[in-house]
Parts: sequence; structure tokens; C-alpha cells
Amino acid sequence: MQELNSFFERNRKGERALLVTPYARGDGDAQRRADEFTELAKSAGAQVLDRVSARVDVPNPRFYIGSGKADEVLERVRALDADLVLVDHALTPVQERNLEKHLGVRVVDRAGLILDIFAQRARSHEGKLEVELAQLKHMATRLVRGWTHLERQRGGAIGLRGPGETQLETDRRLLQKRVDKLQERIDKVGVQRDQQRRARLRNTLPRVALVGYTNAGKSTLFNALTQGNAYAADQLFATLDPTVHRLEGLSCGPAVLADTVGFIRELPHDLIAAFRATLTEARDADLLLHVVDAADPERDELITVVDEVLHEIGAGEVPQLLVFNKVDVLNGDGQSRSRIDRDAENSPSRVWISATTGEGLDSLRGAVGERLSGGRVRSELRLPHEAGRLRAKLIELGAVTGEHYDEHGWTLAIDAPRAMLAPLAGELRSDARYLKTLLEHAPD
Ligand code: GTP
Repeated sequence: MQELNSFFERNRKGERALLVTPYARGDGDAQRRADEFTELAKSAGAQVLDRVSARVDVPNPRFYIGSGKADEVLERVRALDADLVLVDHALTPVQERNLEKHLGVRVVDRAGLILDIFAQRARSHEGKLEVELAQLKHMATRLVRGWTHLERQRGGAIGLRGPGETQLETDRRLLQKRVDKLQERIDKVGVQRDQQRRARLRNTLPRVALVGYTNAGKSTLFNALTQGNAYAADQLFATLDPTVHRLEGLSCGPAVLADTVGFIRELPHDLIAAFRATLTEARDADLLLHVVDAADPERDELITVVDEVLHEIGAGEVPQLLVFNKVDVLNGDGQSRSRIDRDAENSPSRVWISATTGEGLDSLRGAVGERLSGGRVRSELRLPHEAGRLRAKLIELGAVTGEHYDEHGWTLAIDAPRAMLAPLAGELRSDARYLKTLLEHAPD
């Protein structure tokens, strides 16, 4: 397939991009979407020179944006010497081509940009194949016919050499062959993955996956949590996949932590398969850390967006722990702003942290350990008088729901997560035997 590679050479690192952000009349969300699009462009590696907003009430069939606006964009392209225009909307292949002709630079629409990010982030074999397939389908009509005009104007910088009509037909045939081949491989990989998954379920570490809206801070948190985990086993993970790492320091023992691609609103429909494949880690996880930018005024809405997508990709039932990140930029009183919120069952549901300052990371580890070990201890604990320190500690932790005292000592009614009680045995060695009995005999 080497012969086709040049057609799909889309590495835009450092390319000088001008953004066009269309909006409709009365669109209150335009600014935010434009900011988000800028972030997406940056994460694809583009150098964002400027952006031009374009009001589009009725799309212009030729350019999508109005022709007056297209002239304005052309002026900006020339003034800034841009070599790429990114449009925050779906363009038909014809519109994309017309714009390219008009502007004399490459034009990539929203779906194309998102695909580019997926392509850079896809880690699993299946993910890479799915992304390539989606790219091929997306570009099938655009690339092959589309870039000859640019070649004339800009000297063929993108590696397309004079495809005439006959060349075009050859390209089409090769392309279709490549699509069929990819589809075949994807089907095969899907079967393999299910087998691997079953094998893993029998015998491996618990898996935790970071998910969240783009820019929430997943990668920063991933690095903060796995930094210094210089175990030999990491080598293995790092070689196999740089976004999967061993997670240490949990009360339940080590786990595996996976980073994933950021979620995006209005994901073009034909990209769902590619997106889904880059998210196999989320679907297969024992626990999702749903990272939220706590300082974002729209954070609740974004949580809903992520939850909807998780449902779409079949990860809706995976247990979640919400991680409210960036507490360092919340208005606080200077006190520690990290904390754990618990649900009605007293299980951690939300942890407030800062991935950059490290605030709350220990609480997060504690909460993850608690959620992974999952079980609760509901039982009676008999303690002699001399175990007063243990009793005090249990009350302090909120683990005691009632107590009775007689001449032998206390009888405590305990209701607490197993993972919260387990570390106490090390802390209060003299009383460890009482805890041990409790943990061994109490049902979950
Ligand atoms: P995608 O790769 O787009 O999905 O983003 P991501 O969720 O991996 O976010 P990333 O870790 O790249 O962080 C996004 C931005 O937020 C970066 O500029 C980080 O420096 C910043 N950031 C991450 N965590 C914190 C935090 O705790 N506090 C502050 N102030 N900024 C943070």
C-alpha cells in the first residue's frame, strides 16, 4: 500500500492555519465553539494565526460561507501567509474544492480536523485501522480529484503529481482496494480483541481509564499520577503503548491506567466508529475517571455530553468517578480546595483536584482504591476497652453507625467501604487483629 501513502500525507505539524468559524444568527454559543475549535486546531499541531468568524444563515452552495466572506478570508490568507484554512463546519467535497481554488491553500473541514487528531492519538491496532478507514472514506472524493488545482497554484507541495483523468481512475481503484482490505482487517481485529479481553478478565490488574471533554486535563493528570512509577513493568506498558501505564499507591494494589482521546461535541456521525475504536480502553475499564474542567462555566453541560457519548460507544454502564480538575483556578479562600464528595452509599463520587499543582492526588488515589475494591463492610465489631484508639479512629472516619457498651467493652455497628478500613490495620498495629477479624468475616 506504499503507493498510496503520499496521498494521505497529512502531517500538519506547525502549519500556518487561519480558522474560519461560522455561526448562525442568534447563536449564543458561537464564542465558545470558536475557542474550542482553536484548541482542536492546536492539538492537531497547527499554528493558529488568526480566526475569521462568518455569519451563515443560509449556506452558500458554492463555498458554504458567503462569497464576500470568502474574499475576506482570501485577504487574510495572503496577509498572514497562511498555508491552511480550517473551517469549523462540515463542507461538501465541492465546497471544499471551491474554497481551495478560491483561496489557493488547503482547506480542511471540522470532520477532517477531528480525524487528524484521532490519527495522531489512535494507539490500538484497531483504533489505527478504524481511523485510517474513516480518513479514506472522508477523503475519497476530496483528495483524489480535489488537489490538482492546488498543485498548479502552489507547486504540488502535498505530493500529488499530475493526476489526469486516467490517474484518477487508478487512484479510485486503489483506494477502494485499500478500503476493502482495511475493513477485512478491522473485522479480524475485533474478533481478536474480544478473545484478548476474555483472557485478560481471567487474570490481570484492574483497569482504569481517563475520559473527559477535550482540554479537561486528562493527559496532565495521567502524567501526574504515573510520574515516578519507575517500575520495570512500566517498560512493558510504555513500549506497548505510551498512553497505558501502571498506577501505584492504591489501597487495592496496582492497577493499569489508560489515557484516551478527548471528547468533542457534535462529533460528525461518520467518525463515530473511529472514535469508538480509539476508546476501547474506556469500554473495557473497571472504572472510568471522568475528568472535568471544574473552572469551566459550562462544566455540567460538558459532563452530559461526555456521558451521552459514553453511552453511544457502549461504555455507559462502566462505573465512573468524577474528577473535578483545575481547583487551583477556582476562586478559593487559600485553603486546600481538594475534597472528596460521597454519594448516599458513602462511596466516593467526586474528587476535587489539581493535576498541575498535585493538590488532591492522594485523595484521588484513595478514592480510586476504594471504588476498585468496591466492597462495603457492614458488620458488628466487638472491641475491648484497650482498643479505644481504634474505636476513636473508626468514629472519626464515619464508619460507626451505632454502638453499645457493656463490661467487656464496645460493640460497634460498622458500615464502611472495605478499602477505607483496610489501611487502618497498618496504622494501628496493636489493634490490627480486631480489624483483621472484621475484614475476613464480614460479607461485602
Ligand atoms: P485533550 O488531549 O484535548 O483531550 O486534552 P486533555 O484533557 O488531555 O487536557 P490536557 O492535559 O492537555 O490539558 C489541557 C490544558 O489544561 C493544558 O493547558 C493544561 O496545562 C491545563 N491543565 C491541566 N490540568 C490543570 C490544572 O489542574 N490546573 C490548571 N490551571 N490547568 C490545568
